Amino acid sequence: MRQQIAAANWKMNLTVTQAEELLNNLLQEPKKLLAHQTVIFAVPFPYLTLAKTKVNGHTNYFVAAQNCSNKKSGAYTGETSIEMLHSIGIEYVVLGHSERREYFAESNAVLAEKLDLALSYGLIPIFCCGEPLSIREAGTQNGFVEQQLKESLFHLSAEQLAKIVIAYEPIWAIGTGKTATAGQAQEMHQHLRAVLAAQYGKETADIVPILYGGSVKGSNAKEIFSKPDVDGGLVGGASLIAADFTQIIDALK
Ligand code: 13P
Repeated sequence: MRQQIAAANWKMNLTVTQAEELLNNLLQEPKKLLAHQTVIFAVPFPYLTLAKTKVNGHTNYFVAAQNCSNKKSGAYTGETSIEMLHSIGIEYVVLGHSERREYFAESNAVLAEKLDLALSYGLIPIFCCGEPLSIREAGTQNGFVEQQLKESLFHLSAEQLAKIVIAYEPIWAIGTGKTATAGQAQEMHQHLRAVLAAQYGKETADIVPILYGGSVKGSNAKEIFSKPDVDGGLVGGASLIAADFTQIIDALK
């Protein structure tokens, strides 16, 4: 079975005390995961080492950064390199979240550079894609998201592509409480897998986990995750509440 992933994206939330309390709640008696199940905490940079310490010893629990620089190293004040993340043992990095695309003008081309750096250091990118409301209303979401994949991913080899995780996050569903229906998620995930299969072959496309993100909660996770091409979720708001995120972990196939 494909890897099934519950990924928490804390975004820019929580003090260190709150972060520690949340991790303690989730990890004191963590759910035992099956071999194909993974839980990832994408925490703010200052809490990466804290989170690493907390997941230590818990099988299939990992920590992600929420971003990285597209430069290898050097005079880029305020930036964080992949090399730094690698040097503190971080295994995953979220790339191309719609908030980074919108507020920090990250283009598909810059994201391609970040992906290359992440893969060259052995970090697993969680590559985010998704359409704004206007595109959904125009009914052109499939082509829009396909273009994001083409421009950021299609220079990768099949071997590299097989290492990444994709997160489909329709922007109109992020933080709005308006979840895509399980049917809408499945429809897009199936489309994305077909796009990957056309470029890389079915065998490679079948390996890549595709997560859904956008108002996933404890109460709707099971239905969304039950769809055959939905391999878990990238969760914002509900990942800040231990009881909710536990329910989301429980909903993994
Ligand atoms: P919400 O779960 O708060 O809608 O956020 C989704 C998201 O952006 C995860 O990356």
